[in-house]
Amino acid sequence: MIYDFDAINNRRGGLSYKYNAVENDVLPLWVADMDFKCAPEITSALNEFVNTGIYGYTSVPDSYYQAYIDWFYKRDGILHQKESLICVPGIVPAISATIKALTLPGDQVIIQSPVYNCFFSSIRNCGCETVDNELFIKNNCHYEMDLEDLEQKLSASRARILLLCNPQNPSGRLWSFDELKNLALICKKHHIYVISDEIHCDVRDENSKFTSMAHFYDLLENRLVIFKSASKAFNLAGLQNACIIARDPFIRERIDRQVNINEICDVNPFGIIGAITAFNKCESWLIQMNKYVKNNYLFLKDFFENNPCGIKVFPLESTYLSWLSIKDLNISSKDFCKKLYKEGRVLLNEGTEYGKGGEGFIRLNLALPKTVLNEALIRILKTAKSI
Ligand SMILES: Cc1ncc(COP(=O)(O)O)c(C=O)c1O
Repeated sequence: MIYDFDAINNRRGGLSYKYNAVENDVLPLWVADMDFKCAPEITSALNEFVNTGIYGYTSVPDSYYQAYIDWFYKRDGILHQKESLICVPGIVPAISATIKALTLPGDQVIIQSPVYNCFFSSIRNCGCETVDNELFIKNNCHYEMDLEDLEQKLSASRARILLLCNPQNPSGRLWSFDELKNLALICKKHHIYVISDEIHCDVRDENSKFTSMAHFYDLLENRLVIFKSASKAFNLAGLQNACIIARDPFIRERIDRQVNINEICDVNPFGIIGAITAFNKCESWLIQMNKYVKNNYLFLKDFFENNPCGIKVFPLESTYLSWLSIKDLNISSKDFCKKLYKEGRVLLNEGTEYGKGGEGFIRLNLALPKTVLNEALIRILKTAKSI
């Protein structure tokens, strides 16, 4: 079946967080959800449930765990065991519960900025401190981990956890096996837990290789927790479902306790049905969606190469979020985004939302019809040229 990603779906005036933040003439290319309809197989499965007319308390069926196990065995080459999985209403609450389970207030958690903004708030809300092992940029556009700095910080800090974004939002990096192994070796040496947010792992060119941190369970002596979800790859964020994967029974029990203490153990039937259907029936939709996003990325790259204006497009290995440098424009990312909103009528994310390394950058969502992307790029170009 061929899916239509060119279709313009009107999301204005409804419940969309992304669209309700802007006036009607503004193009919102910010928050990370797609303007594409999800796979029709998912809509059919949800409709079937809606038609039952009964939406009472829900339990998690075996078929849910099996769908996760089968999908990630196929995609990552790792066979997870059912007992390792904990069903939760989202990755952000899962990260918070895991931090609470593995730290005491005042402990430190390492992140690698620029990184997903909720990492900062999760750590803060758990009463912990953030230690930033900032990524560095090699050859002008390639983000790498600074493992020397990590060693130094681990020797000098009270860090208990490294919170990894794999693949990385917003830099778009798909960390290689060797990069992750080197990271794991350092974390093992310093006896810290690695918690790996893999929400974006299926949003990538199907020919590229994703390495799940799960390959390093043994190396890390099981001090590893992974977060997976169907929500980014299949555009189901509003259905609120995700999974914590913790192989070690002792770690898992502590996390499970926090999941219960924080009352995030209730199950949303829509999220369960969405995840089962996505993993069991929607691979073909995912492959076509990934191709469409890749084409949008190539279109964006060509656009700024053919229209030089001080905006540089960074490589995109994963996620549908493109990271653009505006350093040559000599304007802060905050002021640029303000001007772009006011004059260009486009909303993007300011790079500084992702930590101080994000200054001089903006983040642009590519999961939208190409015609709308084209219009947004014309507006961004006009604003950049007016500086
Ligand atoms: C890296 C990362 N983790 C987690 C989330 C949000 O996950 P959830 O909606 O399941 O809480 C996002 C959303 O953009 C993200 O980019």
